[in-house]
Amino acid sequence: MAALFEPFTLKDVTLRNRIAVPPMCQYLAEDGFTNQWHEAHYQSLARGGAGLVIVEATAVSPEGRISPNCLGIWSEEHVSGLRSVAQRIKDQGAVAGIQIAHAGRKASANRPWEGDDHILPTDEKGWQPIGPSAVAFGEHLPVTPTEVTKADIERVKGDFVNGAKRAREAGFEWLELHFAHGYLAQSFFSRHANKRTDEYGGDAKGRARFLLETLSAVREEWPQNLPLTVRFGVIEYDGEDEQTLNESIELIKQFKEIGADFVNVSVNFNIPKASIPWGPAFLAPIAERVRNEAAIPVATAWGVDTPELANETIEKQQLDLVMVGRMHLTNPHWTYYAAKKLGVEKPSWVLPAPYAHWLERYA
Ligand code: FNR
Repeated sequence: MAALFEPFTLKDVTLRNRIAVPPMCQYLAEDGFTNQWHEAHYQSLARGGAGLVIVEATAVSPEGRISPNCLGIWSEEHVSGLRSVAQRIKDQGAVAGIQIAHAGRKASANRPWEGDDHILPTDEKGWQPIGPSAVAFGEHLPVTPTEVTKADIERVKGDFVNGAKRAREAGFEWLELHFAHGYLAQSFFSRHANKRTDEYGGDAKGRARFLLETLSAVREEWPQNLPLTVRFGVIEYDGEDEQTLNESIELIKQFKEIGADFVNVSVNFNIPKASIPWGPAFLAPIAERVRNEAAIPVATAWGVDTPELANETIEKQQLDLVMVGRMHLTNPHWTYYAAKKLGVEKPSWVLPAPYAHWLERYA
């Protein structure tokens, strides 16, 4: 059996294989609500055979959306639509995950295909973003965020806790906190974005405080028997990478101590001009280092997306799960394709019977 097709158990949840669909924003919600697009999209991803499907960055508050069309989980009214999406994922045999998020200083942006740039707070579609400090990301996101007060920090932590509670009410079994990609939590940990002089800034301990307090508060709410995971950028590619990586791994050890079960290792994206060495599975050795040094199961995305490469990262114990993103957009049945490529017995049966039977019969 190919390593990629071994089941994976974390807490009380077992994935049927090591293939996960990472969160991918669809930018098609109105007022944060799911619609038929999300239902069909997530159902088809789960039907394709992946073990885990993580619903896109879902904002814990309206101001925490990346764009006006991001999903939201800031009110009870959002729960029923999300429940329906989670149910569709589960009905297809995948574990239903969700990423909850606050976009921080990158909030209030146009959709990627409509410019990806800040919508100004003066525009009726836009709003004023917040951040750890009044420091703008720059380039296409030039708006200077409002520096959060301690009261704001308490509010946002509460929003994450309520988001986690609602995610559970909606039936999700795998929770991912978005601590990556230059959004609010990641920017708190960043030397580029966080210039605070109070206990939420300064050295690594201060810059970590918001992340640790948020995780800890969510841990109280999220059931102990279900995976609580973090997507965390551990490297900026700004020339100070060893320091960032070391600080990040130390922080991940603390995440683990206070109850994180798994890390989806990613890139920081706190500055517009990073020198990211894009290439197949370029983060796998970094994720492996996190796995070994912090002794926590890991995944990563970013080009781990040929069956052979994906299988190798699992076989070599670099990763516990592979996150296959864009390839799932080209082919929601990527798991079937991988099963065939890797010589899995009866590969058609990673798909539901009405497909599998005919594919096997006329293979
Ligand atoms: C993303 N990505 C992303 N990441 C995240 O943490 N939350 C999100 O909501 C999104 N949204 C999103 C939308 C779309 C359309 C894409 C393509 C990507 C990043 C994504 O999870 C993944 O890391 C990348 O796609 C890289 O993995 P692949 O595509 O190389 O397998």
